[in-house]
Amino acid sequence: MPTPRPLSPSDYKPVIARVDHWWGGRPMQALLPRLFFEHFRRTSFAVGASDAIEAFLIGFVSQTDSRIAYIHFVGVDPARRGGGLGRMLYEHFFDVVRALGCEEAHSITSPANSGSIAFHRKMGFELEPGTGQVDGVPVQLHHAGPGQHRVRFRKMIVAA
Ligand SMILES: CC(C)(COP(=O)(O)OP(=O)(O)OC[C@H]1O[C@@H](n2cnc3c(N)ncnc32)[C@H](O)[C@@H]1OP(=O)(O)O)[C@@H](O)C(=O)NCCC(=O)NCCS
Repeated sequence: MPTPRPLSPSDYKPVIARVDHWWGGRPMQALLPRLFFEHFRRTSFAVGASDAIEAFLIGFVSQTDSRIAYIHFVGVDPARRGGGLGRMLYEHFFDVVRALGCEEAHSITSPANSGSIAFHRKMGFELEPGTGQVDGVPVQLHHAGPGQHRVRFRKMIVAA
């Protein structure tokens, strides 16, 4: 298994060039401003050289509650999926933020992203109770704007 390295500003262009394709054609670029590649490097990671990036994770420690770590984005090249890169990036992130004092990890996804929901379940995340349901999945209705429902995930990363 490769070792993740800190995300770099030089990863911005190659990630932006790939991200819509990696998300099955959904327009994702606007959710990844360059600032994540410049100011979140302590808790954001990539696998592979910038010109051959295989996977990346963008996360941070909550500025509001330092016990909480938040994963904003994780993506694996479709050709490399199912080989443990996503799990490895999450576990690396958990190790780093645990050392920074975090006790739980949070993330969200779209209810249409069944792969992400399955992945988070496999990674031990709980789905937070929602204000509604989409296809039997609890969601926070209108979480990201009108009609933009989201599934919220939470996982304890320290022993209870
Ligand atoms: C979600 C994603 C990051 C998973 O990466 P990956 O490297 O394929 O995941 P892994 O191989 O590490 O899988 C970890 C576990 O999740 C499971 N899993 C991963 N994707 C799955 C899917 N689509 N359906 C069912 N289970 C899945 C694996 O079977 C594995 O379980 P195991 O460890 O018990 O065998 C990847 O599919 C991806 O980049 N998707 C598009 C982007 C996206 O939706 N990101 C998440 C929202 S920000």
